[in-house]
Amino acid sequence: MAYTVAEKILKEHLVEGELKRGTPIAIRIDQTLTQDATGTMAHLEFESIGIPRVKTELSVSYVDHNLLQTDFRNADDHRFLQSIAARFGIWFSRPGNGICHQVHLERFACPGKTLLGSDSHTPTAGGCGMIAIGAGGLDVAMAMAGFPFHLIMPKIIGIRLTGTLPPWVSARDVALEMLRRLSVKGGLGKILEYFGPGVTSLSVPDRATIANLGTEMGATTSVFPSDEVTKAWLVAQGREKDFKEILPDDGARYDEVIEIDLSTLEPLIACPSSPDNVVPVSQVAGRPVSQVIIGSCANSSLRDLLLAAKVLEGRSIHPEVSFEINPGSRQVLENLDDLGYLKPLIHAGARIHQSGCLGCIGMGQAPATGTISLRTFTRNFPGRSGTKNDQVYLCSPEVAVAAAITGKITDPRQLGSPPTIEIPSSFIVNDNMIIPPPEDGSGVEIIRGPNIKPLPQFDPLPEDLKGVVLLKLGDNITTDHIMPAGSKILPLRSNIPAISEYVFSAIDPQFSSRALETKEKGEGVFIVGGENYGQGSSREHAALAPRYLGVRAKLAKSFARIHKANLINFGILPVIFADPADYDRIQAGDRLVFRQVRKALETGRDTIIIEIEGGGEILGRLDLTDRDRRILLAGSLLNLARQA
Ligand code: F3S
Repeated sequence: MAYTVAEKILKEHLVEGELKRGTPIAIRIDQTLTQDATGTMAHLEFESIGIPRVKTELSVSYVDHNLLQTDFRNADDHRFLQSIAARFGIWFSRPGNGICHQVHLERFACPGKTLLGSDSHTPTAGGCGMIAIGAGGLDVAMAMAGFPFHLIMPKIIGIRLTGTLPPWVSARDVALEMLRRLSVKGGLGKILEYFGPGVTSLSVPDRATIANLGTEMGATTSVFPSDEVTKAWLVAQGREKDFKEILPDDGARYDEVIEIDLSTLEPLIACPSSPDNVVPVSQVAGRPVSQVIIGSCANSSLRDLLLAAKVLEGRSIHPEVSFEINPGSRQVLENLDDLGYLKPLIHAGARIHQSGCLGCIGMGQAPATGTISLRTFTRNFPGRSGTKNDQVYLCSPEVAVAAAITGKITDPRQLGSPPTIEIPSSFIVNDNMIIPPPEDGSGVEIIRGPNIKPLPQFDPLPEDLKGVVLLKLGDNITTDHIMPAGSKILPLRSNIPAISEYVFSAIDPQFSSRALETKEKGEGVFIVGGENYGQGSSREHAALAPRYLGVRAKLAKSFARIHKANLINFGILPVIFADPADYDRIQAGDRLVFRQVRKALETGRDTIIIEIEGGGEILGRLDLTDRDRRILLAGSLLNLARQA
């Protein structure tokens, strides 16, 4: 039997099911990662399961999302995370050490292993030959407690790369080309596996950029083979012992093959306000730019910053442009400095920020009103930058630095010959900002500031679900729409009553008070959505906070994978319109009854009748595994875990 790389790793970790596409499977998780925005809650959840120490080979807690300390709350949360990590056997990457995905790639990613992370861009580690999947914090907490991770066996799409990239075209353009072809929904239920002769021309950070952006296509994960290039990366990191070759077998069969000849690609750019709104740079060249940022987990490796520094050598940034750098990690920054390339960036006028997420999640660096911001970030959903009606374009570091010099969107090929980038064969490695857990943490005191509130408790599912549709929404609703981020909101992540006030706040500022009133009357709150409901981040608060407000069911034409899992984990029933045309039959304000919903889940029925008061009935589809049903009946995954 010939296997793909993804099949080989999954097969080795399979604890339930078989590799048959579309069927439920469960896999053993070797490593987990959390970041602070999701991590405080994930750690509270882990603690409430009652296990004395994590059962994974490795769990790492990163602090990268919210590094602003405008009052006591973030500083308190960071201390909480550090102390709970020591208590339960978790490694702790301190604030300022870097973005979780970049640091994990450098210091922990291991070919052939599985990684579950409470961040949607966890697949970045697929660049190092891992199966790395983003999930909600509760799923990660369960994996830390030694439970397997459940998913539907995805299709495996092979992306066959041939040729080599032309000058001024980089890995980011490969990802943009994929987004142009597949759209933000094209990867749903799929693993994207890259193979073919073109793969060897891409370094591990290049592969990580491509794997990272598979998330924007909705893919379960993306994976590259582990080969001599992977070995060179691990050697440069002083981790040769972690290398293991994993190549697809001759004759391995993919469910579908996409061909990309790298030599035919040109510089691409995603226009506002979706990562798949991709056109050639030449089509939008000349538009004036007010801000350029190189950073985020997609594009802030040493190679990306070296490229920017070398292009800027002897040049200055344009007087109308604010040019900003978010280094991916302290290692990147330190090596850049050692090579003598921090100076050209500073000299040219770059604003150097600390290593972390920062502007990518609206934690500062919001662009000016009515102006264009060019970023190497992962996504450009409306308002994510922190500015209403923003105009964020996403591009490669090459396109970004060209605009920083000219003040307008510019095809970098106009800058002449590209610089030669040589990456050292061995990096300066300094792990003094990564704190290993003590052998025995049982005596460690967990430090809880006043911002850490207890987890809410949720009731089991009632026999009939009755309630009101409080919101009707369109297609591609993101987790940012449901539970926004930003500097006002992120510090509330461990305080569910407080953070719940912001649910759907950009769409309906009164939503949380209307929902609480409905809940207090003993009625359920329902939301109706279109296609790809809940796309975007792994933010479990986008399910947890609505559940706290009384949301008991969501009806949509389709759901994004991680959000659907989060809804189930917190006891919100995801129902798909059996006939998408029925979307038009339900309006905000309608009263609905999901009759005998408990019975439907208990008996394994995959449809349910939904009565619309005064408007007849429609059929809902329940696309749920047996385990999903048990969670929903119990009212939440934590309730179910406590029953076990
Ligand atoms: Fe951070 Fe932005 Fe990535 S918030 S983890 S840099 S998508």
